[in-house]
Amino acid sequence: MSRPVLQVVAASTRPGRRGIAVARWIEQLAAEHGGFDVELVDLAEVGLPLFDEPHHPRLRRYEQPHTRAWSETVDRADAFAFVTPEYNHSFPGALKNALDFLSAEWADKAAGLVTYGGASAGLRASAALKPVLGALRMVPVVEAVSVPFFARFIDEEDVFVPNVELEAGGKAMLDELLRVTAGLRALRTA
Ligand SMILES: Cc1cc2nc3c(=O)[nH]c(=O)nc-3n(C[C@H](O)[C@H](O)[C@H](O)COP(=O)(O)O)c2cc1C
Repeated sequence: MSRPVLQVVAASTRPGRRGIAVARWIEQLAAEHGGFDVELVDLAEVGLPLFDEPHHPRLRRYEQPHTRAWSETVDRADAFAFVTPEYNHSFPGALKNALDFLSAEWADKAAGLVTYGGASAGLRASAALKPVLGALRMVPVVEAVSVPFFARFIDEEDVFVPNVELEAGGKAMLDELLRVTAGLRALRTA
């Protein structure tokens, strides 16, 4: 069987964002892990407008070319690692918008949460995101990565340099994503 596709979804879209370094780190860690074919999905590059479809996404009657393209992208994933900052004690609107655009494309797929922020390590973003993922029938794995004072881990070249705990946490999340993905793949093809 082919390796499952893991999409690392970078949720910050703002100019000057710092968190793209966190997403690149997770992308690299996942590539080294070896269990997945890894894609970085940068919501800034995807560039979706505010949700502009007339029909409920579960009908898949998409009218906009950008929705069809987004649907194709997400469809080919078997699992996701959402890399998100905390904005006002939640996750960015760009991520909610990207999630709302689709429905079945997300369903029965595992999700790992990688959050970053100040003292809170993005944990409130994680708490806000989980019920949304649940509504879309995604399965968030318990192993997650939360980075407090994350800018301290970014060097002058904008590279995220994890400590041993973060690295171990990232590997544990990837192991669990792979384990759950195997079961969910069977469920999706049943
Ligand atoms: C609109 C906005 C809201 C923010 N709210 C929070 C917050 O609730 N908690 C927190 O820890 N940091 C918060 N921050 C600070 C962010 O952690 C910090 O700006 C970080 O760089 C944002 O990630 P990004 O650079 O990848 O966009 C906020 C930043 C912005 C721009």
